[in-house]
Amino acid sequence: MFFSSVATVTAMDIFLFLLVHIVARVFCYSSGSVEESCDDLKPHHSGWSPETSLAPFTVTTDRDTYTSGEEVTVYLRAVGSTPFIGFILQAREVGKPFTVGSFGLKTEAAQLLSCHQRLNTAVSHTSNINKTFIQVSWKSEGLAHTDPVHFQASFVQNYKKFWINVTSSMLKPLKTVNISRAGCSVSKVCFSEPANCDPTVSTDCFFMSAMMLSDSNTTIHYEMTGPSNGYISFGFSHDEIMGNDDIYICIISSESQVLLQRAFSTGRITPQAFPLGNVSDVRTSVQDSIISCSFTSTNTIYIQGSPRINEAYHIMFAHGPSTNGKIQYHAHRFVSAQKIDISRPQEVRKSGQPQIIKAHGALMLTAWMTMGTLGFIVARFLKGMTKEKKLCGKDLWFLVHVGVMSVTIAATVVAFILSFSHVKAWSYKAHSVLGCLVMILSALQAIMAVLRCGPKHPQRFLFNWAHAINGVVIKSLAVTAIFTGLKEIDSSLNNWLMKVMGGFVGWDLLFYIFFEIQSKLSFSIGNLGSDMMAVALPISTYFLGNCTFLVTLLVGIGMS
Ligand code: HEM
Ligand SMILES: *[C@@H]1O[C@H](CO)[C@@H](O)[C@H](O)[C@H]1NC(C)=O
Ligand SMILES: *[C@@H]1O[C@H](CO)[C@@H](O)[C@H](O)[C@H]1NC(C)=O
Ligand SMILES: *[C@@H]1O[C@H](CO)[C@@H](O)[C@H](O)[C@H]1NC(C)=O
Ligand SMILES: *[C@@H]1O[C@H](CO)[C@@H](O)[C@H](O)[C@H]1NC(C)=O
Ligand SMILES: *[C@@H]1O[C@H](CO)[C@@H](O)[C@H](O)[C@H]1NC(C)=O
Repeated sequence: MFFSSVATVTAMDIFLFLLVHIVARVFCYSSGSVEESCDDLKPHHSGWSPETSLAPFTVTTDRDTYTSGEEVTVYLRAVGSTPFIGFILQAREVGKPFTVGSFGLKTEAAQLLSCHQRLNTAVSHTSNINKTFIQVSWKSEGLAHTDPVHFQASFVQNYKKFWINVTSSMLKPLKTVNISRAGCSVSKVCFSEPANCDPTVSTDCFFMSAMMLSDSNTTIHYEMTGPSNGYISFGFSHDEIMGNDDIYICIISSESQVLLQRAFSTGRITPQAFPLGNVSDVRTSVQDSIISCSFTSTNTIYIQGSPRINEAYHIMFAHGPSTNGKIQYHAHRFVSAQKIDISRPQEVRKSGQPQIIKAHGALMLTAWMTMGTLGFIVARFLKGMTKEKKLCGKDLWFLVHVGVMSVTIAATVVAFILSFSHVKAWSYKAHSVLGCLVMILSALQAIMAVLRCGPKHPQRFLFNWAHAINGVVIKSLAVTAIFTGLKEIDSSLNNWLMKVMGGFVGWDLLFYIFFEIQSKLSFSIGNLGSDMMAVALPISTYFLGNCTFLVTLLVGIGMS
């Protein structure tokens, strides 16, 4: 009997004591305000002892782990048809006597109590009406998150019948990972994209670090974090090319937990699974789609043909989707510009874009932002305004249009070949798909133009429409392709390349509207179209503006 063992009181006994006391007094406190009893641990008189049979009530939770910040929902249920009139619920670390965390209410039938002088550490009933279901929330505030937690409740069925010690199953703590720039260049090697981004501040920051734990050069603490719904990974390589690399991967498993894997790549193909080796203190988490992992490894970096230790390696970072716990082709990857000795704390610089990719971008931009836009404007608006101007018997606008468009398409073809000569393998990136579409439609446009029927042909309007619509589609796709292309090479923190491109689109649109209005006006007034100044001035302004945007973007590409 509890009350006789007060002399050898243990923490557990005090708790049981308290519960017995509280439930026994539920009748005096039918409103459930048993807080005063929480603090004065004296057993008030109680004529009845708790039931020893299996309680017809349960305590369950909506999850089997807990983390800081996340709410756990706790359910109190009557198993059969017999309801309960009173209850008290607390949370505690398994095997420890103190209430932990804090509760929140989800129903009016319950109220918060401050047991052990800590706010909201218990929940009880508000009246003695029959109840079969109670739902409350709980947060692990102030907990170290090292020990499992469970919920304990007492239920009162009626005047004489009550059960104590009804417990939920155990909730294990999910270790949280805290990755920050603290120590970068001082005690650890840091590599991130965008350069110098801080994962504690930015949700768009891919970050990895390596820190020597002792001066033996063998124990290294690694961290990696970044937004992904699949996996994030880093690897060590002799070169900037994927293949023959030692890779660590943090991947979201099917149970939405994060697992650490190791892999070895044999080429630009799915890396092979590799034993994790001597890895300890693995901490992983995924919160709001940001994967974080940290671990300590005594593995030497494994690359074929390199038995030496203390060598320098290129660091690679890649992230992408996963299916069934297996990584898929990366959405994005970046490599260090130099080989890095991870025993020397430093900020790692990302390798620039290959020259050939820069050339591809520069050529495309130059072609489309000068010739392409000009050809467009000429065909859409100058056609009507410069009808009488002829050269060698052909309309002037027509010659200009054909000329600049041919140059644009030729440049596109060259740039297209350049990109493929670098990548060599097709990848389903938005940019590649858009680029190919632009290429195909441009070719179609050229073929249509060559095979068109004469201007007087009754079906000529078909060509005119198809040519115009295809032209607009090509232009829209090309602009989108440029955006996606710039996105891939723009690693600046504020994405200024994208913003400049946005500015260009606005400028372009502005002049379209201007030309549209002007051509309508000249049509109604009649002779404005023949005034060359009214055409030349806006066109040169437009062209000059285009060139300014172009030069800015080219500088950006050069810097990437
Ligand atoms: C399913 C798995 C993977 C496949 C199929 C794959 C395939 C490829 C292919 C085809 C390329 C060349 C085209 C491009 O640049 O996109 C490439 C490049 C690259 N991959 Fe992977 N990869 C995989 C996983 C990884 C992982 C886990 C890493 C982690 C470090 C990684 C790092 C890189 C890097 C740094 C490059 C750029 C260097 C280069 O062009 O070789 N890859 N990968
Ligand atoms: C509460 O439930 C008990 C047992 O089912 C029943 O005997 C009693 O009448 C109920 N009381 C009220 C107020 O409904
Ligand atoms: C209460 O439950 C704990 C574990 O769940 C058990 O060790 C203890 O003996 C129980 N006490 C009573 C009085 O049932
Ligand atoms: C995370 O780490 C930083 C720096 O090491 C520290 O200031 C911060 O308090 C830590 N946060 C948590 C929740 O541990
Ligand atoms: C660790 O590596 C550094 C540089 O690579 C070297 O200078 C140092 O001697 C090494 N220390 C040990 C204990 O191997
Ligand atoms: C793994 O690490 C432990 C402790 O650092 C060490 O005692 C053990 O020899 C290592 N095992 C291997 C295979 O490297």
